[in-house]
Amino acid sequence: MRSIYFDHSGTTPVHPAVAEEMYRYLTGDNFGNPSSVHQYGLQIRKKVMEAREKVAQALGSGAGEIVFTSGGTESDNMAIHGAAHTNKNKGNHIITSAVEHHAVLNTVKTLGKAGFDITILPVDQYGMLSVDDVAAAVTDKTILITIMHANNEIGTILPTAEIGKLARERKIIFHVDAVQSFGKIPVDVEYLGADLLSLSGHKIYGPKGAGVLYIRKGTRWRQTLFHGGAQERLRRAGTENIPGIMGLAKAVELAVENRETESARLIGLRDKLIQGLTSMEDVRLTGHPTKRLPNHASFLFKYIEGESMLLSLDMKGIAASTGSACTSGSLEPSHVLTAMGVPPAEAHGSLRITLGKDNTEDDIDYFLEVIKPIVEKLRDMSPLKD
Ligand SMILES: Cc1ncc(COP(=O)(O)O)c(C=O)c1O
Repeated sequence: MRSIYFDHSGTTPVHPAVAEEMYRYLTGDNFGNPSSVHQYGLQIRKKVMEAREKVAQALGSGAGEIVFTSGGTESDNMAIHGAAHTNKNKGNHIITSAVEHHAVLNTVKTLGKAGFDITILPVDQYGMLSVDDVAAAVTDKTILITIMHANNEIGTILPTAEIGKLARERKIIFHVDAVQSFGKIPVDVEYLGADLLSLSGHKIYGPKGAGVLYIRKGTRWRQTLFHGGAQERLRRAGTENIPGIMGLAKAVELAVENRETESARLIGLRDKLIQGLTSMEDVRLTGHPTKRLPNHASFLFKYIEGESMLLSLDMKGIAASTGSACTSGSLEPSHVLTAMGVPPAEAHGSLRITLGKDNTEDDIDYFLEVIKPIVEKLRDMSPLKD
């Protein structure tokens, strides 16, 4: 049976060159602790510095502004908690959007429970945030705006650069979750006007459990989550995950090298897929029709449960996702689709196809061939369709 992986927003396979780089730091004499003063430590410290420079170059930042973390969730938590608590004396208002990843949304809500004043801005039917809404929400107590660069469920690219400009003019700290956009569209901290920016290794053919938090020099931000050693210049306590850092830096290097050609190729495949699926009856695209990630196609199928579609596709060797959250066995409708005004019953019929480096036109043809009978069969059985 064919085996096709269409869930690259969920995670990606580790690139062989990344695995090779990581293996180097799991074997031989490359086990040193970068905080040690002997040769073992010094040699690794130098390598970590080179990795930091590589990541900094990719983001258009200085190497001293890069902190290695355990992934996107930690970077988001560190960014938001650090900015909020460090600036409490200036104000207590935080702005975010209704379509953020839970790593941001739940962190902001936690701060709301702790006494911060939070504004969660609505989006339109494409999951797009209005810059005017952000401007209107700002008060003289606003200390942080945290907005994602591109949405993981629907692929919409948000107007982060304009929001960054607005934040800069008002001297408000701006955090960007760039976990889904990095490697697919340009991510430059100057262009985006980001003071804080999160990346994750496993979305870019790097390792799981490795990420980056960019912290602009001069930003009023202090580490408030982990208490321990002085690693990462007091910004992230704990002995560094050396194989993870080295693998992540390699993945970043490859992502930068391949981005333009690979994104152009994926746009071609994505558009063929969108064309094929939206020509079916009662199927519509979710997210913005043009301002969307090159590899991202997401849909709503009327009268069908997304989960049933996933199981049927899996039996045909195709791994996709619904893009919605599943909590303790009971399906909650996706907060992103709900925020876009999709009724809960319809939100359950979501399907997300996210393409990656090994996908070919043949995969799209095969998918379009097998999805049609699956949809027909599920609709025939559906109690939702009379
Ligand atoms: C937009 C976004 N932010 C944050 C995360 C969390 O990243 P990690 O899995 O590295 O914790 C994800 C992962 O799906 C994501 O899509």
